[in-house]
Amino acid sequence: MFANRNLVSSDGILRDATREKVAIGAFNFTNMEVIQAIVAGANELHTPVILQASSSAIKYMGFEHIRAMVSAATEESDVPLVLHLDHGKDFDICKQAIDNGFSSVMIDASVLDFEENIAITKEVVDYANKYGVSVEAELGTLSGVEDEVSVAEGKAFYTDPNQAREFIERTGISSLAVAIGTSHGVNKGKTGNPKLSIETLKKIKEKVGDFPLVLHGASSVYADAVQRCNAYGADIQNAYGITDSDIREAIQNGIAKVNVDTDIRIAFLGAIREQLTNNKSNIDMRKYLGAGRDAAKEMVKRRLKTFL
Ligand code: G3H
Ligand code: 13P
Ligand code: ZN
Repeated sequence: MFANRNLVSSDGILRDATREKVAIGAFNFTNMEVIQAIVAGANELHTPVILQASSSAIKYMGFEHIRAMVSAATEESDVPLVLHLDHGKDFDICKQAIDNGFSSVMIDASVLDFEENIAITKEVVDYANKYGVSVEAELGTLSGVEDEVSVAEGKAFYTDPNQAREFIERTGISSLAVAIGTSHGVNKGKTGNPKLSIETLKKIKEKVGDFPLVLHGASSVYADAVQRCNAYGADIQNAYGITDSDIREAIQNGIAKVNVDTDIRIAFLGAIREQLTNNKSNIDMRKYLGAGRDAAKEMVKRRLKTFL
């Protein structure tokens, strides 16, 4: 649906990333400024990048605006871009995304049992294959709140390495999201940065070989970025993310796509709060949204540097 050569499925870039032991950044967006920040950051670091929208983000922007904004972004971009549906919870939303020009979708039926997860994932793969669209699925459960999928903390299940290979073979997916101890949002640990189960990841990799694995809930939630928000009136407490060294180790052990939303939210918010606080007479939204965009771009670059 996009004629532009720069919009690609994620298949090839994730396979290459796995082989090269690097990862592709997948950043969530909800407006024009964040799209521009992601694309500018990726262009400066000469790396393909995945622009992803959750179903609630799609509700907020609408397919028409997403299509138009991402189409414009592909024209300005020197690097390949992927437009990806994040956490599609059923066949219908995946179909809608594909019909609206998304080049990649995630079907997240991880709350269902193994056989049901396989059945719905396979249905999405069969439809996506007709359009050359790549499909990510999830096995195991992250704690925290995913888009329209709530999982109580303490009920998080790591991906079972023994199921991973069978799941991939029976569904025909092109990447698999694994649960190895991350969660979505700003509070990933109660008293400090949570440790990833690299041991589980290694066991999965032993079973699936060079198959691209995906890490959700991978924001680093840098203390300086949180402090900037709080210094200008926010109240964000117990904010802990995944350390850069854990992310690097995960990439060395098969993670090829790293999902980041929270870090951009924090960067954007801190810059806007600072701008508004220091310019009380300003009414021009370009001043504060522009500051948010610049900060989001710097955050994208900061994260990408740990992935490459
Ligand atoms: O995985 C969850 C993402 O952070 C999307 O969150 O539903 O608020 O857009 P959202
Ligand atoms: P964070 O909340 O850690 O940024 O994770 C985002 C994510 O996994 C989107 O799918
Ligand atoms: Zn996620």
